[in-house]
Amino acid sequence: MSLPKKTVMCIVGARPNFMKIAPIMAALDGLAPLSLIHTGQHYDAAMQLLFFQQLGIPKPDINLEVGSGSHGWQTGQIMQRFEPIIETTDPVAVLVVGDVNSTIACALVATKKQVPVIHVEAGLRSFDRSMPEEINRVLTDQLAQLLFTTERSARGNLLREGVEDHRIHFVGNVMIDSLFNHCSKAVIAKETLMKSRGEGAVESCAKGYAILTLHRPSNVDEITTLQRIILLLQQISERIPIVFPVHPRTNAALDRSGLRQKLAQIPGIFPIPPVGYLEMLGLLKKARLVLTDSGGVQEETTALGIPCITLRDNTERPITVEEGTNTVAGIALERVLSIVDDILATGGKSGRIPEFWDGKAAFRIRDVMLGWLDDLK
Ligand code: UD1
Ligand code: UDP
Repeated sequence: MSLPKKTVMCIVGARPNFMKIAPIMAALDGLAPLSLIHTGQHYDAAMQLLFFQQLGIPKPDINLEVGSGSHGWQTGQIMQRFEPIIETTDPVAVLVVGDVNSTIACALVATKKQVPVIHVEAGLRSFDRSMPEEINRVLTDQLAQLLFTTERSARGNLLREGVEDHRIHFVGNVMIDSLFNHCSKAVIAKETLMKSRGEGAVESCAKGYAILTLHRPSNVDEITTLQRIILLLQQISERIPIVFPVHPRTNAALDRSGLRQKLAQIPGIFPIPPVGYLEMLGLLKKARLVLTDSGGVQEETTALGIPCITLRDNTERPITVEEGTNTVAGIALERVLSIVDDILATGGKSGRIPEFWDGKAAFRIRDVMLGWLDDLK
């Protein structure tokens, strides 16, 4: 195996990393030496391979093939497998995105090897340390030398944690770069529904549907919570059909809890396997509302102007609530149903697209990074 030396080493591992890395690598192509490491945190074709094809991400130079495990095991395995790569290739910098275990694991190894770390999507805070992602965010931001933020609130969070102001650059949202770059290529929703459940699903959803994504451990890992959510979904589905691309964590939880059967018996819910990015955009564009606990989907719905109900008690992306279409609802039945009813009656709150969510964030990153790389020489 011959890996390129002295590159800016970009890291991906889990689904939301792919939409973020694609525009960054495209913007830097030919301007800085790049390499791509896939940790293999996500490995099902539907959770990763499809995104390389659809987003035009280069083939990774290496896949660490880490796979699933407990937090300690997975983070440790990524670190063990990443360290020799750094040792043999001497990267100029390591660029990590988001807040998954691959992000912190690679940032930590790089820092200990005195390779500077660049963090894209820095400074987001839910202020909820029971979320594994919050730990990953706080620690990655402590390690990073160069921090790119998606919304203005992130700078204050970082300054409070002692990050030096000159390291922080507000550039906007690369997730939205991908969204705008690919929206016109979205696969029409009908085709996706046909593939999954045939004409029945298409007919049921013809007058409008909601999209649901669900994968936070706090929502799906405990049987009683998952049961509560399914009862809530049942009531929502009596108002509007729900299309539900099921995340593998949730799929495993449905098996473990025996709740798969219960879900299958609800006629207005259409579970489907995780869909590709272009299929997801097609579904989102035509949705009347979105129910989610995903970070990225809260942002995409704000950019698309689609009402979003976040099935969590907090968000690390406050701009989607303050300026966008997002409402943080939790999972209490009465509250969520009243928001759904309001959206169905009035179209929900109208939002605007936040500052710098304009499809050009990766170009701003490129401009800052090229100057910074020059200074490193
Ligand atoms: C991870 C991220 C989360 C992110 C999400 C995006 C961490 C701590 N969590 O959560 O922040 O929002 O990805 O989707 O990094 N599995 C498969 N096939 C796969 C991948 C996972 O079957 O390709 C199953 C396994 O049972 C695994 C479970 O999903 O144990 C969870 O996977 P993991 O990567 O640990 O966490 P996610 O819940 O996917
Ligand atoms: N997404 C997708 N297919 C799906 C579900 C989600 O392509 O079946 C996309 C979604 O549109 C967004 C990204 O995956 O671009 C968000 O990833 P995820 O929700 O897994 O992670 P999070 O953003 O919560 O970390």
